[in-house]
Amino acid sequence: MLRSADCGALRGENAGDQVTLAGWIGRRRDHGGIIFLDLRDRSGIVQVVFNPETAADASRIAEEVRPEWVVQVKGTVKARPQGSENPAIATGDVEVMASELTVLNRSLTPPFYIEEDAEADESLRLRYRYLDLRRPPMLRNLILRHKVVKYIRDFLDQRDFLEIETPILIKSTPEGARDFLVPSRMQPGSFYALPQSPQQMKQLLMVAGIERYFQIARCFRDEDLRADRQLEFTQLDLEMSFVEENDILDLTEELYTGMIESVTPEKKLRKPFPRISYDEAMDRYATDKPDLRFGLEMTDVSDLAGETEFRVFLSTVEGGGHIKGFVVPGQAQFTTSQVRDLEDAAKAAGAGGLSYIRYRGGGTVGQQTGEDILQSAGLRMPAEWHQRLADRMGAGPGDLVLLMAGPQPRLNAWLAVMRTHVGDLLKLPDPDELAFAFITRFPLFEWNEDAKRWDSSHHPFTSPAEGQEEELDGSDLGAIESKAYDLVCNGSELASGSIRIHNRRLQEKVFEILGYSKEEMNSRFGQILEAFEYGAPPHGGIAPGIDRLVAILCGSPSIRDVIAFPKTQSGTDLLFDAPTPVSQSQLDELSLRITEQPG
Ligand code: AMO
Repeated sequence: MLRSADCGALRGENAGDQVTLAGWIGRRRDHGGIIFLDLRDRSGIVQVVFNPETAADASRIAEEVRPEWVVQVKGTVKARPQGSENPAIATGDVEVMASELTVLNRSLTPPFYIEEDAEADESLRLRYRYLDLRRPPMLRNLILRHKVVKYIRDFLDQRDFLEIETPILIKSTPEGARDFLVPSRMQPGSFYALPQSPQQMKQLLMVAGIERYFQIARCFRDEDLRADRQLEFTQLDLEMSFVEENDILDLTEELYTGMIESVTPEKKLRKPFPRISYDEAMDRYATDKPDLRFGLEMTDVSDLAGETEFRVFLSTVEGGGHIKGFVVPGQAQFTTSQVRDLEDAAKAAGAGGLSYIRYRGGGTVGQQTGEDILQSAGLRMPAEWHQRLADRMGAGPGDLVLLMAGPQPRLNAWLAVMRTHVGDLLKLPDPDELAFAFITRFPLFEWNEDAKRWDSSHHPFTSPAEGQEEELDGSDLGAIESKAYDLVCNGSELASGSIRIHNRRLQEKVFEILGYSKEEMNSRFGQILEAFEYGAPPHGGIAPGIDRLVAILCGSPSIRDVIAFPKTQSGTDLLFDAPTPVSQSQLDELSLRITEQPG
């Protein structure tokens, strides 16, 4: 071994120990001939001292070394003189008095400092990712990710799950995104698809009698990237036979609770996880991924709004739309310019505008005078109406009421943006808190207005809710509930799953509603339809996204911070410079011709 101890492990009780350390040079300070070097390895940082009087050769080399050079240090651990301890680092009580210094490798001047805070632009950090990952926060993220995955493996192993790998070169299995295709050299003109998820494979494993499967599975989706979306990402993919919805939810809750209490015990975890139906979530929070760390719950006041003479409200109600909004407690003092900022945010979200009422003063709303009630233009209503509105919405003096009008589902989308906006503005969400919830009973289908067809709201393998199979022959397909569920946390979707269809006829019926012809069904899904005829057990599962979970646990705004080598927003790998054009001979081998030269 090139070393006998880890830099970050040295403590007061090591004083007197002879150690050999190896690592990277951090900061260097020169104090009247005495040189102080920070030496860093994966375990942390320790201060090394070079005294030219006692270690002349080592001190001479210490003058030459530069940041990020790799060195080996031999020396003695010593308690720091009283008053010079550094409480900011774990090894701050000690320093190492160097006797020898060997340069193991030099480094060019790094393009950015390897420090706690990322000062450098993200594209530079991604270009030099191997340097960025030397920064302690990035290392901490990777360590946390490792612990999460290890906890998952141990937890599921104890419950008799088998970890099974499924292929990466497959036939398309749809999750609603575009496929990545891989041309086949041996079968010119034919393509494999990379899995958007192992969905069909895990279901086939249930038909195969595996009963409890999981995989830390890489998934590939050619979709537009966002802070919480990458082209390739990792799921804990999980499937069980002979279970009902609550069995999957209970297991998931137990897994998440245990994991979080073990890997991030400092987080404030709300327990138990509420289970909220999709309809209730949409009514109360205007979204199926509510941030439950704060209130700001919605109330539909279409009937009361219809009593006003406000043109926007009246035409909305006449057109079948709704007026819905929420109370911002204690914020009646919002200034006109603050309210205007809220209106701007509403417009940026696509809404026509935002109406507000400020219940100033004391007493009860019903006794307030016109001066106490400040309402947006068009909303001049008597105190009695305000009393009823305030009662309905749970508002009182000192509160601000925000209302929006529009057709569903757009109205909910705008309100959800405003709820998050106001929550953030008032700093309502506690960054240390984790508020999970299961959202259940999603609709089976959703109408795709652009394509004029029904889409699955989860995926086509999802079972309709108990007793709703007959409705598949009816006309109100939008009202059919499913056995799909999501796990959400702090406003983001962390996992999705469902109890599946395991019967060929029912599965074909769903494909038919989604617009597949018999031929398409057989060519795309023949394998799973056929398997359902060989004794498919009732089964269901879930797939938590690992990247999103770890990002939330790390408090990172982007999943890029918890992936060793992520891609940029435009899908580029800046380190390897991928994607790139390939040689003509490679194209020829694959029988491919490029019709459009890259601009
Ligand atoms: P779904 O498509 O909802 O379900 O994905 C499940 C979870 O995977 C994560 N996720 C992503 N993370 C990063 N980047 C992406 N582009 C991305 N897309 C999805 C999210 C999401 O909640 N086969 C089904 C699951 C099942 O039914 O069992 C599926 O893949 O955290």
